Formats: sequence, C-alpha cells, structure tokens
Amino acid sequence: MKSLTTRLTNKLNIEFPLIIAPMYMVSYKTMAIEAIKQGCIGSLASLNYKNTSDLENDIIELNKVKDRYNGTYAVNLLIVGNNNYKEHLDIVVKHKVPLIITSLGSPKEVVKRVHKYDGIVLADIVNQHFAKKAFKVNVDGVIAVGHGAGGHAGNNNLLTLIPILRKQYPEKIILSAGGIATGQAIAATIVLGSDGVSIGTPFINCKESPVSQEYKQAVINANIDDIVLSKALTGTPATVINCEELSLLEKKLSGKNISMQDGMKTLSSNDYKKIFMAGQSVGAINSIESVKNIIDEFKTKTINTLKNY
Ligand SMILES: Cc1cc2nc3c(=O)[nH]c(=O)nc-3n(C[C@H](O)[C@H](O)[C@H](O)COP(=O)(O)O)c2cc1C
Repeated sequence: MKSLTTRLTNKLNIEFPLIIAPMYMVSYKTMAIEAIKQGCIGSLASLNYKNTSDLENDIIELNKVKDRYNGTYAVNLLIVGNNNYKEHLDIVVKHKVPLIITSLGSPKEVVKRVHKYDGIVLADIVNQHFAKKAFKVNVDGVIAVGHGAGGHAGNNNLLTLIPILRKQYPEKIILSAGGIATGQAIAATIVLGSDGVSIGTPFINCKESPVSQEYKQAVINANIDDIVLSKALTGTPATVINCEELSLLEKKLSGKNISMQDGMKTLSSNDYKKIFMAGQSVGAINSIESVKNIIDEFKTKTINTLKNY
C-alpha cells in the first residue's frame, strides 16, 4: 500500500500527506475529486467562484465524494483581497468543510468558527514571524511556502525554514510548499520534519486541468530560469513565466499601484491570455499527465526514497 503516516494523515484520516494546492483559475472540483480518490487532499480556491452558490454546490459534491474514498479536500480562503470572504466563510462552516487553508490576513475568525465543528485550519506562511502570529490564534498547522513556489512565493529556503519551525512547534502540523516536483523532494521535506506537502505547479498542466493548451505547453517549454517575480498581476510579487507580453504589461503599469482585485481582473481578461503564473518546478515538467499518474509517481518515489534513507 502506498501510504505514509504523519500528523496530517492521522488528523484527517487519509492515506498520503499531499495537497493539490489551491490555484487561482486552475484548481477546480475535477482535480479535487481525483486527489480525493488517490487518498490525498484536493482543494478549491474560493477566489475562483464569482457566485457563492457555485462554491456551495461543489462543496456539497466533494462532501459526498470524500465519504467514499480515503482522501479529503480543503477550501482556500483568501482573507484580504477577497470581497466575498464573509459569504465564503459562512458556506464552509455551514457544510463543515474538513480543512480550510487561509492565506493573506489573520486566520483568527476562521479558527474560531471552524474549530466549533472540529474542522482543521492551516495557514499559509512564508516566515517565522507569520508562523508565530498564526499559532497565536490557534491554527492547527502552517503551510510553509518557500522560495521558488508558484504564486506569492516566500523568500525563505525550506531546507532552513522547516527544521526551525519543527523545533519551535514540535506538536503542530507543518507542511512544505514551493518547488516540490518529485517524490524524492517530498521525502526530503519529510526528513526535514514536515508532515507533508502542498504542491501546485506540477498540476497546472495535468490532464484534468481546465487551463488553455497554450498555458499547458508554456509550462512544458519553460525551465527554472524563465520564472520571474512580477508585481504586474496581483500588486504583490508573484511568479510568472517570463515572456514579451509580461514586459509590455510591466511597462504599461510602471509607477501605478495595482490592487489584488485589479490584478485578478487582469489575469482573467482576454488581453493577457499569454501571461502565465507558475513556480520554479516548471523545469521538472515535461509532459501532460493525469492527476492519478502524477500522484502515483510521487507516492512510489517518496516511499522508496524513505525506505532507503
Ligand atoms: C497558478 C497559481 C495560482 C495560485 N493561486 C493561489 C490562490 O488563489 N490562493 C493561494 O492561497 N495560493 C495560490 N497559489 C499558491 C499555491 O497554493 C501554492 O502555495 C504553490 O503553488 C506551491 O508552490 P509550487 O507551485 O512550487 O508547488 C497559486 C499558485 C499558482 C502556481
């Protein structure tokens, strides 16, 4: 059996400690269902839902799917920069979503309401300062987002950050995210002291992903050196595959203040269908595979590596 036991798998009663990370305009219900079937954790990015009723319907469906398999799912709540945060929180509480991943902003209110029904809250953090703040308001764990991650990457190296957090919070759930693209890398994070991983970029161009063929091909074509940080898309530095259109957009926006909402509109607008967000692990992606195949390979390599360790 390809299972691995950690604090995360024990707490959620799942087989393997891997989250398909929430990704704006990438991670929807279909990918989440596949992750659940593989005994892992799928996720919905609540920012992807313009209508709260669509989010509610997907949650109702995922609640049914998770009861049939050894996996589960999370909903990502962006606390700052999400106009529908209050409604989204009401919906996840109403349907007792098993795992909430918070990003940008204090998870205090989420923890208070989600713990009432025994749900679990993990906060995205990029350094010790934000980990301390998150644990102060009683999150169950943190996802340490390191250098090289897709989206709003951190500055810190996971080789350094994970052992520091493990020592500081010996009983808490600590997950690793950023640039993890092989089972050997997953095993390495476990050896460092983490309880599992949250992986985004390697799933951007999976078979079930709804992104365009151009985006999928761009992920295959790009290598680690093509990933740059740009403020042009969300107002704060986010990782993007470098291209001519990005340089043009940066020139057009230079000197302007971009809010998260403006950026999200930019990303979904027709003008910029050639600017793609992705992390450094694009360099390790050479083909389009199903979620099942990607996870299967991750599991095999992780378990074999840990066996030989
Ligand atoms: C295209 C893309 C969109 C993302 N959108 C979100 C988002 O909406 N909310 C969020 O909390 N994180 C978002 N992230 C960050 C991921 O949740 C995760 O932290 C990251 O992908 C992990 O690094 P990796 O891509 O190197 O695996 C996004 C990442 C990518 C690549």
